[in-house]
Amino acid sequence: MKAMRFHGFGTSEVLRYEDVDRPSPGPGQVLVRVAATSFNPVDDHIRAGALARMLPIDLPYVPGIDLSGTVAALGPRVGDVRVGDPVVAMLPLDSAGGAAEYALVPAESLAPAPRSIALADAAALPLTGLAAWQTAFELAELTSGQRVLVNGVGGAVGSLVVQLAARRPPPAGRWPTWPTCTRTPVPGGCPARRSSSPPDRPLAEPGPARRGRACPRPVSSQGRGTLL
Ligand SMILES: NC(=O)c1ccc[n+]([C@@H]2O[C@H](COP(=O)([O-])OP(=O)(O)OC[C@H]3O[C@@H](n4cnc5c(N)ncnc54)[C@H](OP(=O)(O)O)[C@@H]3O)[C@@H](O)[C@H]2O)c1
Repeated sequence: MKAMRFHGFGTSEVLRYEDVDRPSPGPGQVLVRVAATSFNPVDDHIRAGALARMLPIDLPYVPGIDLSGTVAALGPRVGDVRVGDPVVAMLPLDSAGGAAEYALVPAESLAPAPRSIALADAAALPLTGLAAWQTAFELAELTSGQRVLVNGVGGAVGSLVVQLAARRPPPAGRWPTWPTCTRTPVPGGCPARRSSSPPDRPLAEPGPARRGRACPRPVSSQGRGTLL
């Protein structure tokens, strides 16, 4: 398969478009056929080597921490995800790999792709959506009924904060189900905690998972209550 890689840190000139082996999913991993990756500021910092001490990576490295695509194969001990599912994910920063035809994704990093936008466009959502969710509900601790001023609303994160803050709860039972989540915004939040986080609770109310874990839920993929 083809992949973009860099073998040493530097400007965009270190990027190489290369032939590499298609990876095979190991336990807990999912192979995703990539529709798109997105370019976030942190991708630039990783490639430049600015995070090398804090975040050691193996070279050559395939950049692209966000991706969208379809599930191509499942590794052992992966359940509830099916081949062909459209998905989005934020990859672990130290492994990344979105800028390739295929990428390995930890199953817990996957979320269903929203259906209201093109799959390729959905690659822009994971990191910015997570940042928006954490900003609004984990840091600012917005609650239902509050009035909110969002600076930088024309930007990637600000535009999502506004949409999250303005949302109304979807009709009961409309949350899509998904097995697990750790990093990527997931409809309905962390299913393991869903019993204490019913779908008819106002979305702006801080969820039970807001401390210590990223378990956001801004991206709905169906009907009323969709993010986009
Ligand atoms: N993008 C990510 O993946 C990500 C992840 C985590 C955290 N963050 C952080 O989130 C923040 C926003 O990032 P972003 O990606 O959304 O950036 P962005 O797309 O460049 O948007 C920045 C927004 O801030 C506005 N702005 C800039 N300077 C301003 C000022 N002095 N007064 C008022 N508004 C101002 C810009 O307005 P104009 O368009 O008019 O210039 C723009 O709307 C940054 O602090 C970034 O580090 C980003």
